[in-house]
Amino acid sequence: MIAGGWFGAMEFARVVFYGRLGRQALAMFALEPQRWRGARVLDCPGGPGSLSALLRAEGLDVTAVDPLYALNEAELERRALSDLEAAMAQLAGDPAIRPDFDLAACRQEHLEALETFLADRRAHPERYVAASLPALPFTDRSFDLVLCGHLLFSYAPCSAGGLMREPGLDLAWHRRALAELLRLSRRAVRIYPAHTMERQARRHPYAEALLAELPAGWQGRFAATAYDQGHDGLTDVLDLEHTSA
Ligand SMILES: C[S@@+](CC[C@H](N)C(=O)[O-])C[C@H]1O[C@@H](n2cnc3c(N)ncnc32)[C@H](O)[C@@H]1O
Repeated sequence: MIAGGWFGAMEFARVVFYGRLGRQALAMFALEPQRWRGARVLDCPGGPGSLSALLRAEGLDVTAVDPLYALNEAELERRALSDLEAAMAQLAGDPAIRPDFDLAACRQEHLEALETFLADRRAHPERYVAASLPALPFTDRSFDLVLCGHLLFSYAPCSAGGLMREPGLDLAWHRRALAELLRLSRRAVRIYPAHTMERQARRHPYAEALLAELPAGWQGRFAATAYDQGHDGLTDVLDLEHTSA
């Protein structure tokens, strides 16, 4: 299992600018990059993570999107470091974290991801686009594969199994955001996590609802991943495919 997340009795007032290592994101999305060489990939939100750098090195044509990419490098670094400390403080007090989970190593991995992200953005600034769901500045079917980590479902209100203080991102927002992700993809959309952030994780009710009402031309399933969030519960991804893919 690949370490590097959080789980349990945590609560945030806003979405945190928190990024993971590329290899951790591959585990989250159950993604084998060699099967997608040459594909056009959207990572939204990219956060301060190193998934884009890894996929580019593997020969994928990747664009990352995040509203905070409007900031300059010094501002991005400051924001990432302060959000990392806030997340670490919550993790340290989270009773659902396994006793063997190495918080110091986890913090170090986030710092490594941030450093790689900043260097990759410096080298490929045009591939880091400032924009927000549920409205992204790309034409229909611009990408083969659309990845979305730790935004949908994670930042639903706490009362609906998410991490966000009320009102959080409600079901109506999720419907608009998913419609936008599907609009942009020719083949596949993967969303992680598809489970709640409660101590006893269950399939996220918004994910169940969205899967049940997929538009014509799309099919989907929940799939277990090898990603380790530091707890013993579900680590599922919602894997959606165009029926013609
Ligand atoms: C917890 S980070 C996740 C980053 C990365 N995908 C991962 O899984 O590690 C959530 C990100 O969502 C971004 N965000 C917040 N609101 C957003 C929106 N409406 N559309 C797209 N991204 C958003 C934040 O700036 C933040 O970088």
